[in-house]
Formats: sequence, structure tokens, C-alpha cells
Amino acid sequence: MTDRIGDNGLTAESFAAIAQLAYRESGLQLAVEKTSMIQSRLRHRLRALNISDFENYSAFVCSEDGRTERRHMISALTTNVSHFFREKHHFDVLTAALRQNLLPKLRSGQKVRIWSAGCSNGQEAFSIAMTLLEFSAEIAEFDIRILATDIDANVVRFATEGRYPDRLISGVPDTLLQRYFDKETLNGEVIFSAHKKIRDMVAFKELNLLSNWPMKQQMDIIFCRNVVIYFDLETQNRLWPRFHNILKPDGYLFLGHSERIAEPDDVGFTTSGPTTYRPVAAGLHPSTPLKES
Ligand SMILES: C[S@@+](CC[C@H](N)C(=O)[O-])C[C@H]1O[C@@H](n2cnc3c(N)ncnc32)[C@H](O)[C@@H]1O
Repeated sequence: MTDRIGDNGLTAESFAAIAQLAYRESGLQLAVEKTSMIQSRLRHRLRALNISDFENYSAFVCSEDGRTERRHMISALTTNVSHFFREKHHFDVLTAALRQNLLPKLRSGQKVRIWSAGCSNGQEAFSIAMTLLEFSAEIAEFDIRILATDIDANVVRFATEGRYPDRLISGVPDTLLQRYFDKETLNGEVIFSAHKKIRDMVAFKELNLLSNWPMKQQMDIIFCRNVVIYFDLETQNRLWPRFHNILKPDGYLFLGHSERIAEPDDVGFTTSGPTTYRPVAAGLHPSTPLKES
């Protein structure tokens, strides 16, 4: 008899096939305890494809013809929760870095690149853009850009539009809401649209962190927060050296509050504050983090 672990036909075999595929494609780890959540996230995919049960769905998504569906599946399985100015201490470090080395670099004609890796609906990238403009209204005239990437095409599309319903705008202080967003009511729903001046600072792109990274330039700051928590240790450990390689020697890597590099020394990083890492090459002593103000 087939071993059923879900209430809607998700068998142990189909769960294992979907979990293996999700891991291989995106690094996502699906725990068997999350079976009912996984079922409910995928149920609309079965409806969209007119497939009656998970056995047929898992066979299809794993097949050669299931290539497009694999992207829909990963999109359905990712957790996209985000907030503006989440974990504010990183934005304070960003402001301090702007004062101490990023603005001087820009003034001397150098480029500054910031990467929001796993950007979800764009709240993190737009929070960075607002922090930059609040620091200096003229900053956009320099060669400074924010790259914001995510594996999920749906969130990338949403973020590119920069239109946030009331429930997704929390975290933006009123003054910034007035300065950087237009408020309108459409069919009874309040929508906040990001101004062109912050949209122009960000390039949103689809990118799987486990694939090749096409970026040619090194980053000054990487925000990769609340992303690797969904990866196992092996996948995380493959990412750290790649972040190190793409980060400038005086750069910063910010992780989410429950994420950490297990052995920073082994991968060329040193801790420089809560969930804040810098390449060892920065020559900074770990106990002398950048001054915040
Ligand atoms: C919980 S959100 C975090 C959003 C934002 N960084 C924050 O901290 O608020 C995690 C995001 O990581 C993305 N993600 C998961 N696996 C990924 C992968 N392999 N490559 C790129 N993005 C991935 C998800 O699609 C999701 O939008």
C-alpha cells in the first residue's frame, strides 16, 4: 500500500521527489513536518495544470516537459515574507559606511555597488535606496546602483512595479512614505507607488543563488538576509566563498538575524557586528567595528 503522509494524496514517494527536486534546483530544504504547508502551497499548481493528484504532479514536474513548471513550483515553495527597514541595525551600518568610505569613493570617481540577494518583493532594496537618498539627496548623481535579485520571477515582477498595498508597506516611517511614495486608492484598496527616484536606483533581476552569477563588478555591500536559513549547511558553505569572491576587500556582508557563518575564518570573513561580516583582507580587527552614528 502507498504510504500517504498528507491528506490530499501527497505520498511519501511524491513528497521525496518534490523535495529532492526543490533542493537540487534552488537549495530549498523541505522538511517532512511541513507536508501540509507544502501541499497547500502547491495545490493551486495542480488546479492550474488540471492534475488530479500529487503523484501525477511530481511525475510531471520531474519530467523533461516539466521545466517551466519547475519554476512555478519553486515560486510557490519559497517564503517571500519581507518588511521595509527589517533589522534596522544593518541600515545604520550602511549609513556609517556611506559617511566613512562609500561617499569618499563616489566623490573620487569610483563606482559603488550594493546587492540585495534574495530581495523578495523589493522592500529591502527600496529601503537601501531610501537610506542612500536620506544620507545625501545628490547621491544618485554618482555611479551608485543597487542590484536586487531573487529566484522567484513573481516577486521580481512585483518589485519592478514598486506598487505596495497597505499590508506590505509597514516599516516605512511616515516622513519617508510622503517623500518617496504616491498614495492612491484603487477599487477600495490603498496602494503606495514608489517614486521614480528610488526605482531608478535599483535593477531587479531573476537570479538563482546556486547558479552562475553573471555580475562582472565586485560589490561594496551584500544584503543576503533571511535567505540561507532555508538552505542546509552544505549549501550555505558553498555560498560563503562565492560571496567573498564577489565582495570588495573593504566590503560588508549582512545576513538575517537567525543566520550565521559557522566558521568565518575558514572562508576569509571576520565578524564585524551582529550578523555583519567583512573580508579578512579589510585589515580591520574584529573588535573594531565601524562606528555607527
Ligand atoms: C524570506 S525572503 C527574504 C527577503 C529579504 N531579504 C528580507 O530579509 O526581508 C527569502 C527570499 O529568498 C528567495 N530565495 C530562496 N531561494 C533562493 C535561491 N536559491 N536563489 C535566490 N533567491 C532565493 C525567495 O524567493 C525569497 O524571496
